[in-house]
Amino acid sequence: MKSNGYQSGFGNEFATEAVAGALPVGRNSPQRVAHGLYAEQLSGTAFTAPRAENRRSWLYRIRPAAMHGAFEPFAQPAFHNDFDGGPVSPDQLRWSPLPLPAQPTDFVDGLYTMAGNGSAAGQHGVGIHLYAANAPMQGRFFYDADGELLIVPQQGRLHIATELGVLDVEPQEIAVIPRGVRFRVELPDGAARGYVCENFGALLRLPDLGPIGSNGLANPRDFLTPHAAFEDSEGEFELIAKFQGHLWRAPIGHSPLDVVAWHGNYAPYKYDLRRFNTIGSISYDHPDPSIFLVLHSASDTPGTSNMDFVIFPPRWLVAQDTFRPPWFHRNIASEFMGLVHGAYDAKAEGFAPGGCSLHNSMTGHGPDAATFDKASAADLSRPDVIGDTMAFMFETRAVIRPTRQAIDAAHRQRDYQACWAGLRKQFRAADA
Ligand SMILES: [Fe+2]
Repeated sequence: MKSNGYQSGFGNEFATEAVAGALPVGRNSPQRVAHGLYAEQLSGTAFTAPRAENRRSWLYRIRPAAMHGAFEPFAQPAFHNDFDGGPVSPDQLRWSPLPLPAQPTDFVDGLYTMAGNGSAAGQHGVGIHLYAANAPMQGRFFYDADGELLIVPQQGRLHIATELGVLDVEPQEIAVIPRGVRFRVELPDGAARGYVCENFGALLRLPDLGPIGSNGLANPRDFLTPHAAFEDSEGEFELIAKFQGHLWRAPIGHSPLDVVAWHGNYAPYKYDLRRFNTIGSISYDHPDPSIFLVLHSASDTPGTSNMDFVIFPPRWLVAQDTFRPPWFHRNIASEFMGLVHGAYDAKAEGFAPGGCSLHNSMTGHGPDAATFDKASAADLSRPDVIGDTMAFMFETRAVIRPTRQAIDAAHRQRDYQACWAGLRKQFRAADA
């Protein structure tokens, strides 16, 4: 499906039509929709959610979403929400990249669940997945009724044809597919790998900026939502649904990507992480990493997110009398990290692009021994620039529970803790 370009802004009231005159004017549900289309509302929040939170779109489509065969269970055992695999170890955990598949594998078959918390039924928490794929979705469409999908490509571009239009994303960009929106993923580069955060909680939104002011961090105009695009095709296709933690398959006789026009504020979007306005210290110390917050899913407790999506982008380090890399720390929150590009400044080796790490609540972590030694001796009279990097974190309020397959995975680095073993005792009772 060909892209019709993008509209700019975060959560705007968009209006777009791929055929002139398809969008009703002055009402949502006329007695007869132009061009013989069906009107259908897709709501992403409760009808009565406050206006600032309320999200819904009106879709004008060739056939209603109700038209498909009966669902039956669909087997893709690596992709699930089974996070209760027994006691969670407080160990620091790290994994090498998920190997690319040897057999033809599309985006849905290539999803691999690493960890998570909460549940779709509870409407809080996240599922954290990787994907490794080498084939386009053919005759297959997918939607996730359990949560919106924050997709973070690490290798290979994704051509994501959705009901509401096309997102073309590349590594260092992200895509967000709202809960329920049907889509198909094609792989222009043949192979693709990345990360997915499945958000069961409140919809992702931009954080408040407080004293930062009216600009900065991720700026709303850099979020892009597709113009309407559609296909009018019939065949023996399948619709895969994720519903209450399980996968289902139904036959469907036409492409559900048949929305000719739509308007509203519940829609897919993409964002280029390289456009993030990175803010840091120009005196001493560095701020908490919340200064790198791109999007968050709020919880019922103000300031305490269900999930924060935080990035560690290229930036200058100029702080004086300061240990410039991330400090040693233990947090109440739990941190799942990934690396999209380059190197991460707290680790000298072992954290490769496509890899990931998990540091749960109150688990100590921080720079490895090599990074500590280098930064402790660095010449602070000169600024450092970290130019070739893009790391990120899915940070959650609740403990992130790794799946059995993640713990048992061949690509888990069972010697990860050794990266801190070289930190020497250097205490002197009488400092010189
Ligand atoms: Fe951390």
